This record gives sequence, C-alpha cells and structure tokens, in this order.
Amino acid sequence: MGVAVLGLGNVGSEVVRILQEHSEDLEARVGAPLELRGVAVRRPGKDRGIPEELQTTDADSLVARDDVDIVVEVIGGMDLPRKLILSALNSGKSVVTANKALLAEHTGELAEAAELHRVDLYFEAAVAGAIPVIRPLTQSLAGDRVNKVAGIVNGTTNFILSAMDETGADYAETLAEAGRLGYAEADPTADVEGYDAAAKAAILASIAFHTRVTAGDVYREGISNITAADLTSARALDCTIKLLSICERIPTPDGKERISARVYPALVPLSHPLASVNGAFNAVVVEGENAGRLMFYGQGAGGAPTASAVMGDLVMAARNKVHGGRGPRESKYAKLKIAPIGDI
Ligand code: NDP
Ligand code: HSE
Repeated sequence: MGVAVLGLGNVGSEVVRILQEHSEDLEARVGAPLELRGVAVRRPGKDRGIPEELQTTDADSLVARDDVDIVVEVIGGMDLPRKLILSALNSGKSVVTANKALLAEHTGELAEAAELHRVDLYFEAAVAGAIPVIRPLTQSLAGDRVNKVAGIVNGTTNFILSAMDETGADYAETLAEAGRLGYAEADPTADVEGYDAAAKAAILASIAFHTRVTAGDVYREGISNITAADLTSARALDCTIKLLSICERIPTPDGKERISARVYPALVPLSHPLASVNGAFNAVVVEGENAGRLMFYGQGAGGAPTASAVMGDLVMAARNKVHGGRGPRESKYAKLKIAPIGDI
C-alpha cells in the first residue's frame, strides 16, 4: 500500500513517525506493508526527520503517482487541500483528512467523488483529536436516532479557559503556549473566535442527523471577550465557563423538526461533567433515542493524539484496499431546516 502524506507539521510529522516506528505491526494489521511514497512540505530540508528524497514541494505530482494508493491530507486550509483531495479521489485513491474547515464546507462534493470512484474518505481526526466520535456516530449509532450532540470540541480554547480559571493565567500568553504545544490552528483566530468549533459542529450535526449543515449555518461566538473577571464571577455562582458546541433536533409546532447548531461560551455548573474537562481535553455527549446518553472524552488536540485518529483511518482505508470493501457510506440525507438562535 503506497501512502502519500501531505503536510509535515504538528500532525503530519507524528503520522510519519508512527508509520516508521510501527511498520511491522501496521503491516500485520493491514495485511500488506504501508509504504511511505513521499511527504509534501513547503520547506524541505535535512532536519525534517525523514530522508530528503521523500520530501517534495510538488503535492500535485505526489498525489498523481501510480504507486500511491492512499493520500493523507494534513496541510490544512481550503483551496489547495480541496483540489488535492478531489484529484486523489477522482483517480481512485482513498483519502484520510483531519481538515474540519474543508469538510464543514465541502463534505458533499468530496463524498460524492468518493462514492463515484468507490474509495474511502475518512476524517475521524477532524473532530475532537484522538477521541473516536465520527466512527461511533456513522457506524455504531447508525441504527439509532441521535437527538443531541454537545460538548467541548476545541482544545485551544479549553486550554485557555482552564488556565485562566485555575491559575489566573494571561489570555495572550496561554494562547501563545497553545500554539507552541501544537494545539492551535495555523491562524488561531479560528480557535478563539469559534470558527473551528463551528466547523466541527457542522460536521457532527451532519453525520448525527443525516443532513447537511455547513459552518455558516452554525451560530457562533468565540472566547476573545472572556476576561479573568468573568471567570471569577462564574466561580461565585459555582460555575465555570466553557466554549460549548451544541447540535440538537428541535421539534416545531407543526410536528416537523429543525436543527439547531450553536457555539458559544457558556456557564457550566461545577457539578456538571463538562466542568471537569480541562486543558486541551475535549468531551462530546451524544444522546440517542435508544442508546441514552453516551460520553466521549480524551485529548482533543495536539500532534500525537490527532495522528492516532489519522492512523486508525489509514489502517481502515488500507485494509479495505487490500481485502475489498468500503465504508461507512454516506446516508441519503434529509434536508432539515436550521433553527435561528432566537427560536431556541
Ligand atoms: P501545521 O501548520 O503544523 O502543518 C501544516 C503542514 O502543511 C506543514 O508541514 C507545511 O509545510 C505543509 N504545507 C503547507 N502548505 C503547503 C503546500 N502548499 N504544499 C505542501 N505542503 C504544505 O498544521 P497541523 O499539523 O497542526 O494541522 C494540519 C491539519 O490538521 C489542519 O487541517 C488542522 O486543522 C488539522 N488538525 C490539527 C490538529 C492539531 O491539534 N494540530 C487536530 C486536528 C486536526 P512546512 O512544514 O514546510 O511549512
Ligand atoms: N485547533 C484545534 C483545537 C485542533 O484546538 O481543538 C484540534 O482540532
């Protein structure tokens, strides 16, 4: 199985490390060796941890190589990864991506290309880092009716709010630290203004409710206006402040339903399980009509945790290529209306 990795940053470098360190185990799990054909970077060099001959600035040519079967996209951004992923899918290659910003806008187009060419498009790493939440929603809960998905899905903002709450840490310094630790996006505005959480909410709402929600449909507020004084006031009420993403079905008086998807900083009582989710950890609560309430918790950001989710997808896609099979398929989606925030 030939693998191309696009991007060698926080996530890509950990994916390459795991591929190299665990090649024998991975071969046993897949049934064929996973061979790294190349890595696309902007700035190739001797100090990048992999041989220079494996590095290229020409991602298009790497994707197009005949000996590449699976493409892992961890560059980030919108136009370039969209073009590369479509090119890969349209030439019969399976794709694994962590790119929530892209998926929140273009899942429909990408999934159609994957369906047309009978290949896999996997994106477990796009929501909540290491935490398995996409696969449970698309597979384990595919026979249930999910009514609500809510929680903390941005590690950077949770890291900042926790540090401000616990130690009175400075907002700007803690944001810079989140960048150094590999939690923050290349442009951290996406984290602190809630765009990243909104993209994840769009993905979660789409797969949980078998509909199409884009990031623009999600009501969004970030944390840049939250001050130390706000957190002190929250404590006085036995609460803390968390950036929550909430996606739920809202019944309407005519017996139909709408979808509400919203992201905002909220007061969370200290007795609530989400109040204890600190640092770059995430937690997602899923309510199924039959399953009841499920909670998923773990590391929501950072190179190695995210690479764990990418590698899970890579093994699945490679197994399917070796042994046949695909999946999970996209649902035939319903067109559900979005409820304006004022209606909630
Ligand atoms: P980084 O910014 O650390 O890495 C991006 C990589 O892409 C770099 O290696 C860069 O090369 C390479 N790159 C950028 N432009 C090009 C180009 N034109 N051609 C070839 N290579 C290019 O990002 P992260 O690893 O943090 O994130 C990657 C993706 O994963 C993003 O979509 C992000 O949203 C997502 N993600 C990140 C998580 C995290 O915790 N960091 C968690 C979950 C998802 P160079 O190194 O030479 O500059
Ligand atoms: N910047 C993102 C976060 C990375 O902080 O949650 C994980 O998706």
